[in-house]
Amino acid sequence: MAKPASNTSRQLANAGAWIDQRLPVSEFWKKHISEYYAPKNFNFFYFFGSLAMLVLVLQIVTGIFLTMHYKPDASEAFASVEYIMRDVEWGWLIRYMHSTGASFFFIVVYLHMFRGLMYGSYKSPRELVWILGVFIYLVLMAEAFMGYVLPWGQMSYWGAQVIISLFGAIPVIGDALVEWIRGDFFVSDATLNRFFALHVIAVPLALLLLVVLHLAALHEVGSNNPDGVDVKKKKDSKGRPLDGIPFHPYYTVKDIFGVGVFLTLFAFVIFYAPEFGGLFLEPDNFNPADPLVTPEHIVPVWYFTPYYAILRAVPDKLAGVVLMGLAIMVLFALPWLDRSKVRSIRYKGIGSKIMLAVFAVTFIRLGMLGMGEGTYIQTIEARIWTFAYFGFFILMPFVTKYEKTRPEPERVTK
Ligand code: HEM
Repeated sequence: MAKPASNTSRQLANAGAWIDQRLPVSEFWKKHISEYYAPKNFNFFYFFGSLAMLVLVLQIVTGIFLTMHYKPDASEAFASVEYIMRDVEWGWLIRYMHSTGASFFFIVVYLHMFRGLMYGSYKSPRELVWILGVFIYLVLMAEAFMGYVLPWGQMSYWGAQVIISLFGAIPVIGDALVEWIRGDFFVSDATLNRFFALHVIAVPLALLLLVVLHLAALHEVGSNNPDGVDVKKKKDSKGRPLDGIPFHPYYTVKDIFGVGVFLTLFAFVIFYAPEFGGLFLEPDNFNPADPLVTPEHIVPVWYFTPYYAILRAVPDKLAGVVLMGLAIMVLFALPWLDRSKVRSIRYKGIGSKIMLAVFAVTFIRLGMLGMGEGTYIQTIEARIWTFAYFGFFILMPFVTKYEKTRPEPERVTK
């Protein structure tokens, strides 16, 4: 005999029904979580979407706490960060979580994008999911750049100086544009103030909105998978994909495991190597900004260095800026550059496999060169890798069209 429902559970059910009649909470939960059928063969690479969301939330929460003691003022910013590190209770933890979080954000997003490249997740019908992703990537870069200026150390100052001055290469409007961005004739308190406003409110809002659109677009067409087959094609009598499983509880449990591993690694870095050998926090940024002393080597943080290497590989400033911009913008075209009949790298030909592997090596090598001093040899090497970088996109339409592919299976494999 079923136990009679307790008063409390009946009241809760009533409250739930009351809300549901006014706001479709359970409909939303069903559509996007408990009855969202995701392919059952998600692998390691499918951890990074949910991890990116986790890092986004962590950055927002730790950012809010940092704002409580940070001073966006050129004469106080550096000291206020030191104050957070030394005197504010748990301030060091919040600050290291935020600075480490920035680097982890890019690690997670780069792996997430690489998954997309491997499994052809940008191909029809997911072009918009990918395009929104590229917008997220652009906005994330702007967010990280402006955040790095806030501690007002030497690298903050001179990094801002170098990057903003790139806009000066644009013909006719360049100089006026640079002045408009800085809000002054040089990088100054006005620049710091506006970067603070953009970093803490405008850009995070844009990011959140883009992530919502990214997921809405994904749920409209459904997730891809390592086989690249469309799981919606084969359904059971109730209309559920045969190769699909409800996101909750199956993938919520899987993602929680991913979160556990991620947080362990994250904690290791925060507690034992928050500067990460100068990669996550550069040594020069422990000196307060000084407009009169230029650091010997001005190098951006690691996640920007592949593009910085491309910029430095070109002798002409304008051409360098254009090429660097193109290196990012070309990502938007990817859905139309890949003309393969199949999505996943598993069934593509040897040409695509070699190209993707070379592309991954190219990106890492360019990143390493971008951290270097820019010697003659490094510049020559960066030019070769820059050719390889663009070669990937230029050759893709031909290789994917003419190479021999293997037939995609009817159902997902493993
Ligand atoms: C804040 C950053 C981002 C967040 C929070 C985010 C979140 C997510 C989530 C939760 C998923 C579904 C789960 C998964 O497939 O892993 C997803 C899928 C996807 N994302 Fe992102 N994403 C971000 C950035 C990007 C970027 C930068 C790109 C590419 C340029 C991208 C491209 C894709 C694609 C193509 C899919 C579909 C993958 C598939 O079905 O195989 N995302 N994203």
